Amino acid sequence: MSAQAVRPWPYPLWIAHRGAGQLAPENTLAAFRAGARYGYRAFECDVKLSADGVPFLLHDDTLQRTTPACGVAGERPWAELSRLDAGGWHSRGFAGEPIPSLESVAAFVRRNGHALNIEIKPTPGLEAETGRVVAREAERLWRDCAVPPLLSSFEPPSLAAARDAVPALPRALLLDQLAQGWFELAQELDCAAVVTAYSLMDAAVIARLHDAGLRALCYTVNDPAEVQRLLALGIDGIITDAVDRFSPAGAALLD
Ligand code: G3P
Ligand code: MG
Repeated sequence: MSAQAVRPWPYPLWIAHRGAGQLAPENTLAAFRAGARYGYRAFECDVKLSADGVPFLLHDDTLQRTTPACGVAGERPWAELSRLDAGGWHSRGFAGEPIPSLESVAAFVRRNGHALNIEIKPTPGLEAETGRVVAREAERLWRDCAVPPLLSSFEPPSLAAARDAVPALPRALLLDQLAQGWFELAQELDCAAVVTAYSLMDAAVIARLHDAGLRALCYTVNDPAEVQRLLALGIDGIITDAVDRFSPAGAALLD
Protein backbone atom coordinates (compact mmCIF):
# COMPACT_ATOMS: atom_id res chain seq x y z
CA MET A 1 0.00 0.00 0.00
CA SER A 2 1.46 3.35 -0.98
CA ALA A 3 1.48 6.30 1.35
CA GLN A 4 -0.77 8.25 -1.04
CA ALA A 5 -4.08 9.28 0.51
CA VAL A 6 -4.40 6.10 2.56
CA ARG A 7 -7.77 6.11 4.27
CA PRO A 8 -8.63 4.38 7.52
CA TRP A 9 -9.64 0.78 6.95
CA PRO A 10 -11.19 -0.67 10.10
CA TYR A 11 -12.74 -3.73 8.44
CA PRO A 12 -11.78 -7.35 9.11
CA LEU A 13 -10.29 -9.39 6.28
CA TRP A 14 -13.03 -12.02 6.43
CA ILE A 15 -16.58 -11.05 5.55
CA ALA A 16 -19.55 -13.44 5.69
CA HIS A 17 -21.64 -13.19 2.51
CA ARG A 18 -25.36 -12.40 2.89
CA GLY A 19 -24.89 -12.90 6.65
CA ALA A 20 -23.73 -16.48 6.47
CA GLY A 21 -26.25 -17.13 3.79
CA GLN A 22 -25.72 -20.79 3.07
CA LEU A 23 -25.80 -22.19 6.60
CA ALA A 24 -28.95 -20.19 7.31
CA PRO A 25 -31.37 -18.25 5.10
CA GLU A 26 -29.43 -15.47 3.37
CA ASN A 27 -29.93 -11.87 4.47
CA THR A 28 -31.71 -12.80 7.73
CA LEU A 29 -30.57 -12.28 11.30
CA ALA A 30 -30.36 -16.06 11.63
CA ALA A 31 -27.60 -15.94 8.99
CA PHE A 32 -25.74 -13.25 10.91
CA ARG A 33 -25.94 -15.35 14.08
CA ALA A 34 -24.63 -18.37 12.20
CA GLY A 35 -21.65 -16.39 10.91
CA ALA A 36 -20.95 -14.97 14.35
CA ARG A 37 -20.90 -18.51 15.80
CA TYR A 38 -18.06 -19.34 13.41
CA GLY A 39 -16.08 -16.31 14.55
CA TYR A 40 -16.98 -13.89 11.77
CA ARG A 41 -16.86 -10.24 12.79
CA ALA A 42 -17.86 -8.66 9.48
CA PHE A 43 -20.88 -9.30 7.28
CA GLU A 44 -22.10 -8.38 3.81
CA CYS A 45 -25.81 -7.98 3.09
CA ASP A 46 -28.02 -6.72 0.26
CA VAL A 47 -30.29 -3.76 0.95
CA LYS A 48 -33.16 -2.23 -1.03
CA LEU A 49 -36.21 -0.04 -0.29
CA SER A 50 -39.80 -0.97 0.44
CA ALA A 51 -42.54 0.98 -1.33
CA ASP A 52 -42.72 3.30 1.68
CA GLY A 53 -38.97 3.85 1.79
CA VAL A 54 -37.80 1.46 4.52
CA PRO A 55 -34.36 -0.10 3.82
CA PHE A 56 -34.55 -3.89 4.23
CA LEU A 57 -32.50 -6.96 3.36
CA LEU A 58 -33.17 -8.93 0.18
CA HIS A 59 -30.93 -10.02 -2.67
CA ASP A 60 -33.36 -10.48 -5.54
CA ASP A 61 -35.65 -7.86 -7.09
CA THR A 62 -38.53 -10.28 -6.56
CA LEU A 63 -39.84 -12.29 -3.63
CA GLN A 64 -40.42 -15.76 -5.04
CA ARG A 65 -37.04 -17.42 -4.44
CA THR A 66 -36.78 -16.66 -0.72
CA THR A 67 -40.38 -16.11 0.48
CA PRO A 68 -43.83 -17.62 -0.19
CA ALA A 69 -44.88 -14.36 -1.93
CA CYS A 70 -44.10 -13.25 -5.47
CA GLY A 71 -43.71 -10.06 -7.48
CA VAL A 72 -41.41 -7.10 -7.05
CA ALA A 73 -40.43 -6.71 -3.39
CA GLY A 74 -39.94 -2.95 -3.66
CA GLU A 75 -43.57 -2.47 -4.66
CA ARG A 76 -44.80 -3.64 -1.23
CA PRO A 77 -44.90 -1.59 1.97
CA TRP A 78 -42.68 -2.59 4.88
CA ALA A 79 -45.71 -3.65 6.95
CA GLU A 80 -46.33 -6.44 4.40
CA LEU A 81 -42.69 -7.39 3.80
CA SER A 82 -41.93 -7.65 7.51
CA ARG A 83 -44.61 -10.36 7.91
CA LEU A 84 -43.25 -12.69 5.21
CA ASP A 85 -41.47 -15.97 6.01
CA ALA A 86 -37.92 -15.55 4.67
CA GLY A 87 -36.59 -18.74 6.26
CA GLY A 88 -38.85 -21.65 5.37
CA TRP A 89 -37.48 -21.91 1.83
CA HIS A 90 -34.03 -22.70 3.26
CA SER A 91 -35.02 -25.45 5.71
CA ARG A 92 -37.79 -26.26 8.19
CA GLY A 93 -35.80 -25.13 11.21
CA PHE A 94 -35.79 -21.56 9.95
CA ALA A 95 -39.48 -21.34 9.05
CA GLY A 96 -40.92 -18.01 10.14
CA GLU A 97 -37.60 -16.18 10.10
CA PRO A 98 -38.49 -12.64 9.02
CA ILE A 99 -36.96 -10.31 6.48
CA PRO A 100 -34.93 -7.88 8.61
CA SER A 101 -34.92 -4.13 8.28
CA LEU A 102 -31.54 -2.43 8.07
CA GLU A 103 -32.40 -0.96 11.46
CA SER A 104 -32.64 -4.39 13.11
CA VAL A 105 -29.38 -5.50 11.50
CA ALA A 106 -27.70 -2.32 12.75
CA ALA A 107 -28.87 -3.17 16.27
CA PHE A 108 -27.37 -6.67 15.99
CA VAL A 109 -24.00 -5.73 14.55
CA ARG A 110 -23.55 -2.67 16.75
CA ARG A 111 -24.44 -4.59 19.93
CA ASN A 112 -21.90 -7.28 19.03
CA GLY A 113 -19.15 -4.98 17.78
CA HIS A 114 -19.34 -6.35 14.23
CA ALA A 115 -18.65 -4.51 11.00
CA LEU A 116 -21.15 -4.32 8.14
CA ASN A 117 -20.77 -4.06 4.39
CA ILE A 118 -24.11 -2.82 3.04
CA GLU A 119 -24.45 -3.69 -0.61
CA ILE A 120 -26.93 -1.18 -2.08
CA LYS A 121 -29.02 -3.45 -4.32
CA PRO A 122 -31.70 -1.17 -5.75
CA THR A 123 -34.95 -2.23 -7.34
CA PRO A 124 -34.38 -1.29 -11.01
CA GLY A 125 -35.27 2.35 -11.57
CA LEU A 126 -34.61 3.32 -7.95
CA GLU A 127 -30.80 3.41 -8.11
CA ALA A 128 -30.25 6.98 -6.93
CA GLU A 129 -33.09 7.05 -4.42
CA THR A 130 -31.90 3.81 -2.82
CA GLY A 131 -28.33 5.11 -2.54
CA ARG A 132 -29.50 8.34 -0.95
CA VAL A 133 -31.93 6.76 1.53
CA VAL A 134 -29.58 3.94 2.56
CA ALA A 135 -26.73 6.39 3.15
CA ARG A 136 -28.91 8.65 5.30
CA GLU A 137 -30.29 5.73 7.27
CA ALA A 138 -26.79 4.31 7.76
CA GLU A 139 -25.58 7.66 9.01
CA ARG A 140 -28.46 7.77 11.52
CA LEU A 141 -28.11 4.16 12.68
CA TRP A 142 -24.32 4.22 13.07
CA ARG A 143 -24.04 7.71 14.56
CA ASP A 144 -21.25 7.84 17.16
CA CYS A 145 -20.00 4.42 16.06
CA ALA A 146 -16.24 4.02 15.60
CA VAL A 147 -16.63 1.72 12.60
CA PRO A 148 -19.10 2.97 10.00
CA PRO A 149 -20.73 0.59 7.55
CA LEU A 150 -19.03 0.23 4.17
CA LEU A 151 -21.49 1.05 1.37
CA SER A 152 -20.92 -0.90 -1.85
CA SER A 153 -22.81 -1.26 -5.11
CA PHE A 154 -22.62 -2.46 -8.68
CA GLU A 155 -24.66 0.65 -9.55
CA PRO A 156 -22.63 3.86 -9.96
CA PRO A 157 -25.77 6.05 -9.62
CA SER A 158 -26.41 4.50 -6.20
CA LEU A 159 -22.85 5.23 -5.08
CA ALA A 160 -22.99 8.77 -6.47
CA ALA A 161 -26.23 9.45 -4.58
CA ALA A 162 -24.76 7.96 -1.39
CA ARG A 163 -21.64 10.11 -1.80
CA ASP A 164 -23.71 13.26 -2.31
CA ALA A 165 -26.01 12.49 0.66
CA VAL A 166 -23.37 11.42 3.21
CA PRO A 167 -19.86 11.95 1.83
CA ALA A 168 -18.17 10.70 4.99
CA LEU A 169 -19.48 7.12 4.71
CA PRO A 170 -16.90 4.91 2.96
CA ARG A 171 -17.89 3.48 -0.41
CA ALA A 172 -16.77 0.57 -2.57
CA LEU A 173 -17.40 -0.06 -6.25
CA LEU A 174 -18.47 -3.62 -7.04
CA LEU A 175 -17.28 -5.02 -10.37
CA ASP A 176 -18.23 -8.23 -12.16
CA GLN A 177 -15.96 -7.27 -15.06
CA LEU A 178 -13.05 -4.90 -15.56
CA ALA A 179 -14.63 -2.76 -18.27
CA GLN A 180 -12.68 0.16 -19.68
CA GLY A 181 -12.67 3.07 -17.23
CA TRP A 182 -13.33 1.01 -14.08
CA PHE A 183 -10.46 2.58 -12.17
CA GLU A 184 -11.41 6.14 -13.13
CA LEU A 185 -15.02 5.40 -12.14
CA ALA A 186 -13.93 4.26 -8.67
CA GLN A 187 -11.93 7.44 -8.28
CA GLU A 188 -14.75 9.64 -9.56
CA LEU A 189 -17.07 8.08 -6.97
CA ASP A 190 -14.41 8.78 -4.34
CA CYS A 191 -14.39 5.12 -3.32
CA ALA A 192 -12.24 3.73 -0.54
CA ALA A 193 -12.23 0.28 -2.13
CA VAL A 194 -13.03 -1.81 -5.19
CA VAL A 195 -14.64 -5.23 -4.77
CA THR A 196 -14.28 -7.54 -7.75
CA ALA A 197 -15.38 -11.04 -8.64
CA TYR A 198 -12.43 -13.08 -7.39
CA SER A 199 -11.37 -14.31 -10.83
CA LEU A 200 -10.71 -10.70 -11.91
CA MET A 201 -8.31 -9.90 -9.10
CA ASP A 202 -4.61 -10.19 -9.85
CA ALA A 203 -1.33 -8.53 -8.88
CA ALA A 204 -1.73 -5.72 -11.42
CA VAL A 205 -5.23 -4.79 -10.22
CA ILE A 206 -4.16 -4.84 -6.57
CA ALA A 207 -1.06 -2.75 -7.31
CA ARG A 208 -3.13 -0.19 -9.21
CA LEU A 209 -5.58 0.11 -6.33
CA HIS A 210 -2.99 0.15 -3.58
CA ASP A 211 -0.84 2.71 -5.40
CA ALA A 212 -3.87 5.03 -5.42
CA GLY A 213 -4.63 4.40 -1.73
CA LEU A 214 -7.66 2.18 -2.41
CA ARG A 215 -8.33 -1.25 -0.88
CA ALA A 216 -8.89 -4.40 -2.91
CA LEU A 217 -11.58 -6.91 -1.96
CA CYS A 218 -13.13 -9.95 -3.65
CA TYR A 219 -16.41 -11.84 -3.71
CA THR A 220 -17.51 -14.67 -3.39
CA VAL A 221 -14.47 -16.75 -2.50
CA ASN A 222 -15.30 -20.31 -1.46
CA ASP A 223 -12.31 -22.20 -2.86
CA PRO A 224 -9.25 -22.70 -0.58
CA ALA A 225 -6.80 -22.40 -3.49
CA GLU A 226 -8.31 -19.04 -4.43
CA VAL A 227 -8.06 -17.91 -0.81
CA GLN A 228 -4.35 -18.75 -0.78
CA ARG A 229 -3.78 -16.99 -4.11
CA LEU A 230 -5.55 -13.83 -2.96
CA LEU A 231 -3.86 -13.75 0.44
CA ALA A 232 -0.47 -14.05 -1.25
CA LEU A 233 -1.37 -11.07 -3.45
CA GLY A 234 -2.19 -8.94 -0.41
CA ILE A 235 -5.97 -8.82 -0.68
CA ASP A 236 -7.70 -6.57 1.86
CA GLY A 237 -11.03 -8.36 2.16
CA ILE A 238 -12.55 -11.74 1.32
CA ILE A 239 -16.32 -12.13 1.07
CA THR A 240 -17.22 -15.79 1.49
CA ASP A 241 -20.13 -18.17 1.84
CA ALA A 242 -17.86 -20.84 3.32
CA VAL A 243 -17.91 -19.63 6.91
CA ASP A 244 -17.78 -23.22 8.16
CA ARG A 245 -14.65 -23.78 6.06
CA PHE A 246 -12.50 -20.68 6.59
CA SER A 247 -11.72 -19.52 10.11
CA PRO A 248 -11.20 -15.76 10.46
CA ALA A 249 -9.08 -16.38 13.55
CA GLY A 250 -6.25 -18.12 11.76
CA ALA A 251 -7.35 -17.98 8.13
CA ALA A 252 -7.16 -21.75 8.40
CA LEU A 253 -9.24 -24.45 6.86
CA LEU A 254 -11.70 -25.80 9.42
CA ASP A 255 -12.09 -29.22 7.81
O1 G3P B 1 -21.13 -7.73 -2.29
C1 G3P B 1 -20.55 -8.78 -2.96
C2 G3P B 1 -21.53 -9.78 -3.49
O2 G3P B 1 -22.60 -9.92 -2.57
C3 G3P B 1 -22.06 -9.40 -4.82
O3 G3P B 1 -22.85 -10.39 -5.39
O4 G3P B 1 -25.08 -11.15 -6.14
O5 G3P B 1 -24.16 -11.97 -4.01
O6 G3P B 1 -24.94 -9.63 -4.19
P1 G3P B 1 -24.32 -10.80 -4.91
MG1 MG C 1 -24.42 -8.89 -2.21
